[in-house]
Amino acid sequence: MNSKANHGVIKPICWQGDHLQLLDQRLLPLEEHYLVVRSAAEVAGAIHDMVVRGAPAIGIAAAYGVALAARAGDDLNTALSVLEASRPTAVNLHWALARMRQKISAGADPAALLSEAKAIHAEDLAMNHRMGDLGAALFTKPVSVLTHCNTGALATGGHGTALGVIRTAHALGRLKQVYAGETRPWLQGSRLTAWELQKEGIPAQLITDSAAASLMARAAVDWVIVGADRVAANGDVANKIGTYSLAVLARHHGVKFMVVAPGTTVDLTTANGSEIPIEERSSRELTEFRGQATAPAGFPALNPVFDVTPATLVDVLVTDRGVIHKPDAASVAELMKQDTAS
Ligand code: MRU
Repeated sequence: MNSKANHGVIKPICWQGDHLQLLDQRLLPLEEHYLVVRSAAEVAGAIHDMVVRGAPAIGIAAAYGVALAARAGDDLNTALSVLEASRPTAVNLHWALARMRQKISAGADPAALLSEAKAIHAEDLAMNHRMGDLGAALFTKPVSVLTHCNTGALATGGHGTALGVIRTAHALGRLKQVYAGETRPWLQGSRLTAWELQKEGIPAQLITDSAAASLMARAAVDWVIVGADRVAANGDVANKIGTYSLAVLARHHGVKFMVVAPGTTVDLTTANGSEIPIEERSSRELTEFRGQATAPAGFPALNPVFDVTPATLVDVLVTDRGVIHKPDAASVAELMKQDTAS
C-alpha cells in the first residue's frame, strides 16, 4: 500500500502511530513516494529490495519491524529471524536486532519495544551530528572532497555519516566542492546523494566512478570521505563496492582517506575484513536499468555490492566516540571502550 509523499526535511523512515512509512529509494530522484509497511516481513522485504538502504537506516527500520511484530502479536523469534536474514553485510542490522532481542528477553511489552526502536532512531541522528562536528574539525581550510554511494539522511537516522561530515563542513564554510561518484550499478551517488546535495544547495558535481583517478591526478581532491557497513576489530572497512579502489587511488595520489561510521557499525566480533560476509545481488542490476537492457540478453554478470578496504589504507576513522588516525586493532579496541562523545 502506498501513501502521499511527506515534504520538507529528508525523512526516509517515519513511524505513523500504527505503521511505518519508508521513502522508496528505488524511485528517487524521480518520485518521492512513501511505502506503507505494517509487519516485520514487509520491513524485511523492504530492506532486501532496497526501499530502505544504508547501514544505520537498515538497523533502524529493522527495530521498527520488531515493534510492528509485537503490536500484531506475531511470533517475535520468527520476526527477528526474518529481519536478520534481509541483508548480510551491514552489522547495524544485527546490532539493532540484538538490542531489541535484549528488551524482549527482559519482558518488554509492545509499547516498550516501540520506544526502543524510536530511541535507536533518535540516537543515530545524534551520533551523526557528533561525527559531523568531529570530522569537519579536521579541515583547517575549505576542502574539495570525493564521496561514494549515499551516506546521507537517506542512509541513516538523519544528517548522515560521511555526508554528515560534508554537511557540517559546508555549514561551517569549510567545504569548497563535493565530487559525488555515481556508484554503479545501483546509482546511490547519482540518484540519492546528488538529490540530497541539490536539496541543500551544497556545491557539487556528479562524476563517473572511473573519473576519480584523473581528478586526483590533477590535485582536484583533498579528501575521500566514505561511510561503512561494517568496521572489523582490526579497522578493516566493508563499504559499497568501489570504496577499496578509491582508497588505493587516494594513497597513490597522497589524498587523505576518511571513513565515518558510528560505534554501531564497529564489530569487534569480526577479527578482520576477510570475515565480513559480502552480499552479492542480482546480475540484473548490471544487465538492466529500470527494465531496459544494458548488456546482451543472457550475458552473465558478477555483482558483489561491497568490498573491503584494509585498515592500512584508512587515514582517519571518525566515530561518535572519537577520531582515530591510522586505525588498527589496538586503537579500535580502545575507542570502543569510550562512551559516545559529548
Ligand atoms: O547497498 P547500500 O546502498 O545499502 O550500501 C550503502 C553503503 O555502502 C553506505 O556507504 C554505508 O551503508 C554507510 S551509510 C551511512
